[in-house]
Amino acid sequence: MNALQQINIELPKEEKFRILIPQVKSLIEDEDNFIANISNITSAIKYTFDDISWVGFYFIDKSNPGQLVLGPFQGKVACTRIAIGKGVCSASVLKKETIVVPDVEKFPGHIYCDPDARSEIVIPVIKNNDVIAVLDIDSNKLNTFDDTDKKKFEVLIKNILSIF
Ligand code: SME
Repeated sequence: MNALQQINIELPKEEKFRILIPQVKSLIEDEDNFIANISNITSAIKYTFDDISWVGFYFIDKSNPGQLVLGPFQGKVACTRIAIGKGVCSASVLKKETIVVPDVEKFPGHIYCDPDARSEIVIPVIKNNDVIAVLDIDSNKLNTFDDTDKKKFEVLIKNILSIF
C-alpha cells in the first residue's frame, strides 16, 4: 500500500469527509488483517481533523459483555475498560445510536479519560442488529462535532463494516 495522501487540514469539514471515506475504503481493500486495518483507520481520522484529540474503538468484550474494552486508538493513554451503564460510549451502546456531546461537563456520567476533553462523538458499530463496538472521538474544544460529523462518521462506519 502506498502512503495515504495527507488531507489538507484547512479544507472544510464536508470536503475532508468526501476525501477521507474513499481513502479509508482503499486502505482496507487489499488487507485482511483486522488489527492493521482498524489501526490505520484511527490514524487516518486523527490526522484529517486538527480538532480531534483522541480517536479510537472500544469493543464489547466477548468474554464479559457487560464491559467495553479498548481497541486501537490515536491519542493519549485511555481507560482500558468501561463498564456498560455509565458514560457516553455506554449511552451509544445502549441506545444503538450516535451520541453527540457538545460539552462533556453537561453529560451526566461522562467518563474523563483525558481531563482536557471538552466535546465528544460516539458512533456505534452495529452488525446483525447488535452493537459490537463504538468509534469514540474526543476534542479538547467545545462544540467540535455536529450533524455533519454524525452523518459522515456513520457513513464511514458503514463503509468499513465488512472488516468487523
Ligand atoms: N468519554 C468516554 C470514555 C472514553 S474516553 O473519552 C477515550 C465516555 O464517557 O464513555
